Amino acid sequence: MSLTPRVRAGTLRATDAGRAVDLFGWVHRRRDHGGLIFIDLRDRSGLVQVQFHPDRAEAFTQAGDLRLEFVAHVRGTVRRRPPGAENPTLPTGEIEVEAEALEILNRSRTPPFPVNERTEVDESLRLRYRYLDLRRMEMTRNLELRHRMVKAIRDFLDREGFLEIETPVLIRSTPEGARDYLVPSRVNLGRFYALPQSPQLYKQILMVAGYDRYFQIARCYRDEDLRADRQNEFTQLDLEMSFVTEDDVLDVTERCFAHVWQTVLGRPVAVPFRRVTHADALLRYGVDKPDLRYGLELVDLTPHLQSTGFQVFRQALAQGGAIRGLRVPAGSALGRKEIDGLTEVAKTAKAKGLAFWYREALEWRSPITKFFTAEELSGLEGATGARPGDLVLAVAAEPRVAAGAMGAIRKAVAERQGLIPPNAFEFAWITEFPMYARNEETGQIEPEHHPFTAPHPADLDLIETDPLRVRARSYDLVLNGIELASGSIRIHDPGLQQRIFAQLGWTKEEAARRFGFLLEAFEYGAPPHGGIAPGIDRAVMLAAGEETIRDVIAFPKNQQAQEPMTGAPATVDAAQLRELGLELRPRPERGA
Ligand code: AMO
Ligand code: AMP
Repeated sequence: MSLTPRVRAGTLRATDAGRAVDLFGWVHRRRDHGGLIFIDLRDRSGLVQVQFHPDRAEAFTQAGDLRLEFVAHVRGTVRRRPPGAENPTLPTGEIEVEAEALEILNRSRTPPFPVNERTEVDESLRLRYRYLDLRRMEMTRNLELRHRMVKAIRDFLDREGFLEIETPVLIRSTPEGARDYLVPSRVNLGRFYALPQSPQLYKQILMVAGYDRYFQIARCYRDEDLRADRQNEFTQLDLEMSFVTEDDVLDVTERCFAHVWQTVLGRPVAVPFRRVTHADALLRYGVDKPDLRYGLELVDLTPHLQSTGFQVFRQALAQGGAIRGLRVPAGSALGRKEIDGLTEVAKTAKAKGLAFWYREALEWRSPITKFFTAEELSGLEGATGARPGDLVLAVAAEPRVAAGAMGAIRKAVAERQGLIPPNAFEFAWITEFPMYARNEETGQIEPEHHPFTAPHPADLDLIETDPLRVRARSYDLVLNGIELASGSIRIHDPGLQQRIFAQLGWTKEEAARRFGFLLEAFEYGAPPHGGIAPGIDRAVMLAAGEETIRDVIAFPKNQQAQEPMTGAPATVDAAQLRELGLELRPRPERGA
């Protein structure tokens, strides 16, 4: 007899009553009920209740041996449950399987955590026994969702004329701003491959090669700190198109997401997505990845408090600072403790403090009200639209800090006040990013996206003279406050590409050494092109309503970049190192 399941346990319904079935799965639950034994048998599709009756003596006796997570083959007949015994919370709740024969295919040790309950289990334990964790129905649901989303993406892009092409994983380094993972070459001793941080350069070369619509479900590797939405190994939907402008890339991408959300989640998503410029996003939401599931827009109080006598504000303004405020509807319910909590949020975001005013029926109540003139207070009211019962919060600081702090406050307020609608999906494009940003640590000017992004044609003259004012032809897709995708129209002119490299301080020789192949390719007829790369893990996480991408990746790394089940990364044999011409030494002290 074949062990291939023909029927899956979770798919049985009332219409299957009377059907003879062979089921294969794991013991999810087991109950002894005065003379009857019930088990819930679980496979990938769900579970079904199996009943063992003493009349079937052999099966009944064997069923007495079943324990949680034993692997079993049950032969039996589907029956409607007796009236009153139905379980409306289970898809298979109208029926059960009356067992005729049982075969125990394997036994299981007692699982280190319950597989059959939705309990919080320590994540390190889950990752250590990932095969048990993946048996849990939430995880099965997530991986199925991931499969269906990726399939919907492939179907959509195929219809749109895209070709899926694989690019190498052992490559020459591609800069995306993170550290590379290096792989030593045994054959070319002393040389290293890098693992791709993304297929960026290969996809651009594919455009030069004439493959005008490319995509790939691509694995990317970045040696950076891991977080809830960041792994050192993750998956992108990488795509690139020739003869396009921003509008074309945005259009295909948003229709792709709308297709996935409609076909997989059954959720209509309106296109086109709204577009917010980078500058506007900072002003109105304080971040370049705003959560648009709720309003709570920031307001600029700077013009209304230009000549304020309040020392803290006056000082900030004198140093070129700004004052950004936020009206908290019905915020009078927030007490001293909550204000202190929000002040901590502002301070974590580098602000020196948080000003607050309660709007009461006739006046503003705040320890600092006395420092403001009636005119300034009415300016505050006009700008924020505050009504009695509201609260106004504000930070005065350097514009970037003021924006960032109030962006964090906006988020904290939305969470505390329960303003985030459950189950909402708010996609938005952020456009007109600056070409460069100053790296806080090194003080160096770096590309905000990557050095292959085309500058805005109107800003070309500023590249050398005022780089921070150059706008880039780049865009991000944001969903519910999380960056889902980044992309840009690329440079396809070798002269301009050289100029951008030079601006970054790379000599001609350095540029030629690292990217000579790209510059050379551009001299053989490079078409105008552009593209984007949505993160698959993040998209699935958001669609599944999970808080971390680890819950939608079968075998993720933990926070320490380790894979607890296999113990990777691990030490290797001395012989392996010798063969690669490598020798381990202690890491030198920082700065040494
Ligand atoms: P970027 O570096 O912005 O752009 O990455 C694009 C998208 O990939 C996802 N992502 C990640 N997901 C999980 N863990 C990570 N460590 C991680 N890093 C990035 C995010 C992000 O928006 N080559 C360019 C794209 C292009 O220009 O076409 C690139 O890789 O969802
Ligand atoms: P201080 O003069 O430091 O006692 O601050 C008086 C009030 O102003 C307190 O409520 C502080 O939280 C607030 N405050 C201090 N610095 C700032 C700032 N940079 N922006 C907004 N409010 C501030």
